[in-house]
Amino acid sequence: MNIGIVQSSPVFGEVEDNLVDCFDLMASQSADLWVLPELFATGYQFLSPDEARALAEPVPSGKTTQALIACAAKNACFVVAGLPEVDGVNVYNTSVLVGPDGFLSRYRKIHLFYEEKLHFSPGDLPFAVVDIGIAKVGMMICFDHLFPESARSLALQGADVICHPANLVLPDLAQRTMSIRALENGIYTATSNRIGTEARADESLTYTGHSQVVGPDGEALVRLSQDLVEVAVVEIDIAKARNKAITKHNDKLGDRRPDYYSCSR
Ligand code: ACM
Repeated sequence: MNIGIVQSSPVFGEVEDNLVDCFDLMASQSADLWVLPELFATGYQFLSPDEARALAEPVPSGKTTQALIACAAKNACFVVAGLPEVDGVNVYNTSVLVGPDGFLSRYRKIHLFYEEKLHFSPGDLPFAVVDIGIAKVGMMICFDHLFPESARSLALQGADVICHPANLVLPDLAQRTMSIRALENGIYTATSNRIGTEARADESLTYTGHSQVVGPDGEALVRLSQDLVEVAVVEIDIAKARNKAITKHNDKLGDRRPDYYSCSR
């Protein structure tokens, strides 16, 4: 199968245009599974909880998820993408997984970064894996990369690929941690980051690009530029993610000794 990453440059609040820009980029190549950035259609730098709520949508009935479903049906592919989700009194930084037959799953960002803590509710759903037939897919969002438990939870549930929508602002930190997440779990990771600068407050945020797909050996199969709108599609071999052997006596997941760990504290 192959996997596509989209590195876009959304303009804050221009949901329709940002969405069309991403769909145009996806139309330039063909992929079985596409990954779009975190908050890909709204932009990232919210100034208040009310502003996040105003741009948030119910999932899956909202127009962004419905547009993603239509895109997946038209192109016979699966898509993971980030958007603000409203559910009752809560607004979450969410990613959705959709396919040709419709909505499949949502993930609500568990580890909120910086001022997201002011504008979003922390995720309240466990990390989960969805079998899409061609692969078992898990989702995490941006800053989750720094918490090895995120990727490990997905790997232990059988994820072959972790889709990682991102709006990274700390240069090349996640590129390093995601290579390690791929290596230590023997999985593929696909990080789609955005580029550009948002200066809606006193502080400006510059997004650091370098979207990447990493293989189970921790090596990048592709890494995009720091500051260009780009897409890449790469072939991945799911069998490699299912072979956890290190030597004939060692296995990346099977050799774990959970009785001696205290990670749930
Ligand atoms: C991030 O979690 N958007 C850095």
